[in-house]
Amino acid sequence: MKKPLLALAAACASAAALFHFPAAAQFAKPDDAIKYRQSAFTLISAHFGRMGPVAKGQAPYDAEQIKANVQLLQTLAALPWGAFGPGTEGGGARAEVWSDEQGFLKAQQRFVQSVDKLAQAAATGELVNVRAAFGDVGASCKACHDSYRQRR
Ligand code: HEC
Repeated sequence: MKKPLLALAAACASAAALFHFPAAAQFAKPDDAIKYRQSAFTLISAHFGRMGPVAKGQAPYDAEQIKANVQLLQTLAALPWGAFGPGTEGGGARAEVWSDEQGFLKAQQRFVQSVDKLAQAAATGELVNVRAAFGDVGASCKACHDSYRQRR
């Protein structure tokens, strides 16, 4: 009667190991992961981009609207990374995403932190703060793309 229990424990342990890579478990096919992360970037790009005219002074600054949009961006900023699991190479991602995991992780952290700072800036209600923080987020997109996204 002991053996099945042990087998069960072993199965649980390997399931736990699997959960270490949630992306692998979340998507049935690598293509699903690629589509998911591209969709997330599309939304990130839409919610980031719509603040551009305000930051450039080409559209009126509505502090509440910017705050709400940045809040959305904060949620979206967490989404793509779980869809870069092992075996999901491809799409517009460079091989460096998988061969330089630490660098890719750092680029993600820089981005997420800069979005958090943008939220703090938006909370001040001051356009000059929003403008500077918006620029930093844009620089963090570019820094990651320069190393980890294929040129088109
Ligand atoms: C840590 C790295 C990283 C950061 C930060 C990042 N991106 Fe990307 N982005 C990528 C990679 C990698 C791809 C390619 C994904 C794929 O095709 O599999 C991509 C793809 C995209 C795409 C194309 C999506 C599609 O439909 O193919 C857009 C648009 C985009 N990013 C916009 C942005 C914007 C805007 C920001 C910042 C607000 C940003 N990204 C921040 C790595 C990053």
